[in-house]
Amino acid sequence: MSPEDKVRNIADASKPNAGRIYDYFLGGNHNFEIDRQAAQPVLQASPFLPSLLKMIRWFLGEATRRLCEERYTKFLDFASGLPTVDHIHQVAPKGTKVIYSDIDPVTVAYANDIIGNNPNVRYVHCDAGKPEDLLNSGVIEELFGKDRKIAIGFNGIAWFLPDEPIDHYMDVMYEWAEKGSKLFTCDANSTGLSENAKTIMNQYAKFGQPFYPRTMEKLQELVKPWSVTEPGFMHLEKWMDMENIVTQETQDAWSWGGIYGVFLTK
Ligand SMILES: C[S@@+](CC[C@H](N)C(=O)[O-])C[C@H]1O[C@@H](n2cnc3c(N)ncnc32)[C@H](O)[C@@H]1O
Repeated sequence: MSPEDKVRNIADASKPNAGRIYDYFLGGNHNFEIDRQAAQPVLQASPFLPSLLKMIRWFLGEATRRLCEERYTKFLDFASGLPTVDHIHQVAPKGTKVIYSDIDPVTVAYANDIIGNNPNVRYVHCDAGKPEDLLNSGVIEELFGKDRKIAIGFNGIAWFLPDEPIDHYMDVMYEWAEKGSKLFTCDANSTGLSENAKTIMNQYAKFGQPFYPRTMEKLQELVKPWSVTEPGFMHLEKWMDMENIVTQETQDAWSWGGIYGVFLTK
């Protein structure tokens, strides 16, 4: 079997996959024709969507850079998607240890093929609503040893989860992590949800990925008992000084109160 056939076998090219469609929107090359076709109606309805997704991935990269500067050397990431296009292990200095996870078995299988035998990176299956499955799985001890002062990623996932699993996730991770650990996340503010945003949600629901829009007030409640660090919940456009990248037209088209990022600490 050729390497390409092997990847196709693992990745199941017979139906579209949300992780690969996301990779396509980000400009990656780990997607198939079937994904690109499935993405077209979404692109037609929301041509600005790739800019927004790039902004979310940029926040992930920026969070990684900041936390590496703060000398975090171990990252535990949930709902990772495919580890391509400036993902954590591509941005962090060599030797940084990274455990990725995702609920989607196709993404997990394909991701493992992409990572290959990198000794500092693992990619495992986990429902972010049940982080204890990963925490108790042995992979943490195997890669991180006893260290629990960790940088934790929960990026681009909150809108795919109802309130209860987020609440549970934050409690379990807080209990598990050592003092000084940091968690970064972003979520979309549901205030003023536009027709465009509703169209995107409906189309993602067709890929089997419903959205759970919420207000920032609600998210602030859900992230407890983690403490919010300065400057608090902030528009991604502001965080990254990205007005030049995400045009006003894009922002107006999206117009659902913005995507907010935050760093939390124990
Ligand atoms: C928008 S991507 C986010 C990728 C990456 N974290 C980033 O910031 O660019 C969302 C990912 O969440 C995954 N996902 C959806 N529901 C999940 C859940 N309950 N637990 C874990 N992963 C989930 C999807 O399979 C997809 O790969």
